[in-house]
Amino acid sequence: MDTLDKKNDMINVINDEILKYLKKYSGKEMYEPMEYSLKAGGKRFRPMIMLLMCEALSNDYKDAIPFAVAIECIHTYSLIHDDLPSMDNDDLRRGVPTCHKKFDEATAILAGDGLLNIAFEIMLDKLQNNFEKKYLKAINCIAISSGTNGMIKGQALDIKAEGKNINEKELFNIYENKTGKLILASMKAGAIIGGASQEQLEIIEDTAYKLGIAFQIQDDILDIEGDQEKIGKPINSDLKNNKSTYVSIYGIEKAKKDYINLSSQVLKNLESLGFVNKQIYHYIKNLINRNS
Ligand code: IPE
Ligand code: IPE
Ligand code: MG
Ligand code: MG
Ligand code: MG
Repeated sequence: MDTLDKKNDMINVINDEILKYLKKYSGKEMYEPMEYSLKAGGKRFRPMIMLLMCEALSNDYKDAIPFAVAIECIHTYSLIHDDLPSMDNDDLRRGVPTCHKKFDEATAILAGDGLLNIAFEIMLDKLQNNFEKKYLKAINCIAISSGTNGMIKGQALDIKAEGKNINEKELFNIYENKTGKLILASMKAGAIIGGASQEQLEIIEDTAYKLGIAFQIQDDILDIEGDQEKIGKPINSDLKNNKSTYVSIYGIEKAKKDYINLSSQVLKNLESLGFVNKQIYHYIKNLINRNS
């Protein structure tokens, strides 16, 4: 089986597991909008890197599945809220109308809240059925990374910076938190469950930091040069909202150069971990040329 088949296989596993867990909430009040936003698609980047990291370290990824589903629920909630009129005010997400457009604003807020809670229900269920310290550590890492000293902080700073001149340090702080922290949580939780050593964890944290910044720079580039059909969300959203982005501050050419540079540092780190023949290396290498 070649690399691409394996990647698609893993995405199918993730999608099946998401639906399996979500089904438990079938018929409940917020089921329809939560299912709508989760099923709309998306790359499943965060659960992929979590499972692949776990697999790279332990040759298995099954123990990490509930956490991978949880991180995708948290990410999807962050997108639903990010699109709200009071945030980025976007109408299209994952190729379909945003949750508040398809339903209404109150429903989108509550569906996001619902997904956040479901994420913790899923992870705590796993812990309750199988009490191991590594699961507790993974939950803690995901809670901190998605919270007010993580993704939420980044989103708050991003909104505050609209229409303002910010310096490099402030920009990196926004990127590290709004995007980087869920990527860190994904890699680190996968690593913890896969049994990484302290030394490996330190390299993985540095890798995730660089990957997070690079991922957001590419997102900013795609906001300008992307194809709406492929990215599944509106282009020029950042311009519309007067966002301070890597591209608006440094220009598109430097953004592209620095993106490639950061991405190659990510690959070097993965090489230093001895992952050149592992799926995670190939997956991230392919992702560098992403156009969606
Ligand atoms: C979009 O994330 C939000 C950012 C942090 C840039 P993705 O590009 O991973 O979105 P999906 O999950 O594929 O829709
Ligand atoms: C959002 O960054 C990051 C989140 C935490 C959701 P963006 O606002 O640039 O993400 P997109 O471009 O709407 O996906
Ligand atoms: Mg935003
Ligand atoms: Mg947005
Ligand atoms: Mg964007």
